Amino acid sequence: MTTSPTVFVTGATSGIGRACAELFSEAGARVIATGRRAERLEELAASLPGPCRTLQLDVRDADDVAAQVAGLDDEFAEIDVLVNNAGMAIGRDGLHEMSPGDSAAVIETNVIGALNVIHAILPAMVARGRGHVVSIGSNAARDVYAGGAVYCASKAALDRITKGMRIDVLGTGVRVSTVDPGMVRTEFNEHRMGDPEAAAEVYRGMTPLTPRDIAEIVAWVVGRPDHVQVAEVLVYATDQAGHGQVARRGGGS
Ligand SMILES: NC(=O)c1ccc[n+]([C@@H]2O[C@H](COP(=O)([O-])OP(=O)(O)OC[C@H]3O[C@@H](n4cnc5c(N)ncnc54)[C@H](OP(=O)(O)O)[C@@H]3O)[C@@H](O)[C@H]2O)c1
Repeated sequence: MTTSPTVFVTGATSGIGRACAELFSEAGARVIATGRRAERLEELAASLPGPCRTLQLDVRDADDVAAQVAGLDDEFAEIDVLVNNAGMAIGRDGLHEMSPGDSAAVIETNVIGALNVIHAILPAMVARGRGHVVSIGSNAARDVYAGGAVYCASKAALDRITKGMRIDVLGTGVRVSTVDPGMVRTEFNEHRMGDPEAAAEVYRGMTPLTPRDIAEIVAWVVGRPDHVQVAEVLVYATDQAGHGQVARRGGGS
């Protein structure tokens, strides 16, 4: 990694992506912050201490992602680090209760969307012989739970893409990593449940990870010397040991 890398973050309008944008900016990086919500991108860019570009994009739109990456100005054109973070889930219904549209939206965002960004950015990293793709996976890639069939499948697919990509770019100097969090308190469950109270219930009595916790791990992964490739990091809150294995011992909120 160069001393002042250019870092492209998807899903920078909230949660883990926003924390990554903030931490990399504090560390002196040039940050390309992306997401669908333009107002949030503007507010984030104004708050960052370092140079920033914002791209309002939907990762599901391959042509637009490619065009916006190709259109970056010279200062930001050479992307050193991609934080492949944008993602979501819809509801906790069983597959038999879920609509085909919701299933497709999860796969299109978490799998096709991630691929669209990789396709737009990875070839130039390979051509330059350096770069780092860090995907935000999930413990859901390694497990499956009631009401999680599609989301868990999307994260398992992302895990396979990450592992396959690491093999494909072997010998080019490009590094590929995944950081797989357990429970992190973000807007994720508010969107998933569509109800702030149901989302708060997820974290009842336990102390979840914060977005900053994950950003610090991403920054550590990226900050290793160029010859060190951290393949994967699985990180839980101390109050979690697996899906559904949560100690509700009165912490958190
Ligand atoms: N929170 C957890 O417990 C947890 C645990 C494991 C893994 N993760 C993973 O961590 C990642 C970040 O989630 P989070 O917890 O930080 O949730 P969050 O606060 O809801 O943030 C999700 C981000 O993804 C962006 N996004 C969603 N759909 C998008 C699309 N079609 N195009 C572009 N951007 C899109 C959102 O931006 P816009 O809405 O502005 O587009 C937002 O910035 C996800 O991949 C999630 O699966 C989260």
